[in-house]
Amino acid sequence: MIKLKDVYKAFGEKKVLQGFSLDVTEGETMVIIGYSGTGKSVAIKHIVGLLEPDSGQVFVDDKDVPNLPRRELYALRAKIGYVFQFAALFDSMSIGDNVAMGLRKLEMNDDEIRGRVSEALRLVDLPDTETRYPAELSGGMRKRVGIARAIALRPKYILYDEPTTGLDPVTSAVIDELMIRMRKQLGVTSVVITHDMRSAYSVGSRIAMLYEGRVRQVGTVDEIRNTKDPVVRQFIEGRATMNEVEMAGVPASSNA
Ligand SMILES: Nc1ncnc2c1ncn2[C@@H]1O[C@H](COP(=O)(O)OP(=O)(O)O)[C@@H](O)[C@H]1O
Ligand SMILES: [Mg+2]
Repeated sequence: MIKLKDVYKAFGEKKVLQGFSLDVTEGETMVIIGYSGTGKSVAIKHIVGLLEPDSGQVFVDDKDVPNLPRRELYALRAKIGYVFQFAALFDSMSIGDNVAMGLRKLEMNDDEIRGRVSEALRLVDLPDTETRYPAELSGGMRKRVGIARAIALRPKYILYDEPTTGLDPVTSAVIDELMIRMRKQLGVTSVVITHDMRSAYSVGSRIAMLYEGRVRQVGTVDEIRNTKDPVVRQFIEGRATMNEVEMAGVPASSNA
């Protein structure tokens, strides 16, 4: 399981996480929603030790991530697939080499690597594309290659940072299906960052909203859909501002 406990993180004067706590249990897909620039990416970078908290704790499988010796941190990262927000494929490398990247750091021979790459590309419905190049693929296909690169490691966890942002609705639905398949077929535990509520509802086991540095509400899809919290309501309904009736209902401290 993944556990962040009372995490604080600031960059200079800028306070980003201010008591962020979240538990992700085995086999679930936890969706993190929240406005742009509120610290969603910062939060998940703590899970793989790309950022260290100023205070608070981060555990993955009971390993104390910020305090792991380097070698153990690398071993942990091999269990966590990370699909970056701006799925950076290397344009000069074939699709096969892009997917194989993480595998080459492991002790695997060429045949094993080839097998894993072709399996991963099949799983994202891009079979036999090894010899093609990123420039020949659509945006949605490139995202799927990014996902294939993560799943080629056969990770226990996958972190998806805005996997559908910038994609058209049909392509987004394909990526959503893929994330659902990873959970159902491979039993992967995931964290998905998105501000696309349609995607959040379709892939999420639970949804957590990050707001003002902490988790404002976490609950099942139904609980979030039916939330009475005006801040969460406003976000999920995509309204620009709260109406006056709702404003009146906001507690003085909005960090409920
Ligand atoms: N490495 C960094 N150095 C300084 N500021 C950062 C760094 N990473 C993120 N930030 C700042 O932290 C805030 C939250 O960023 P981010 O987590 O990327 O937001 P989002 O919720 O959109 O993913 C932003 O103001 C961003 O500029
Ligand atoms: Mg982000």
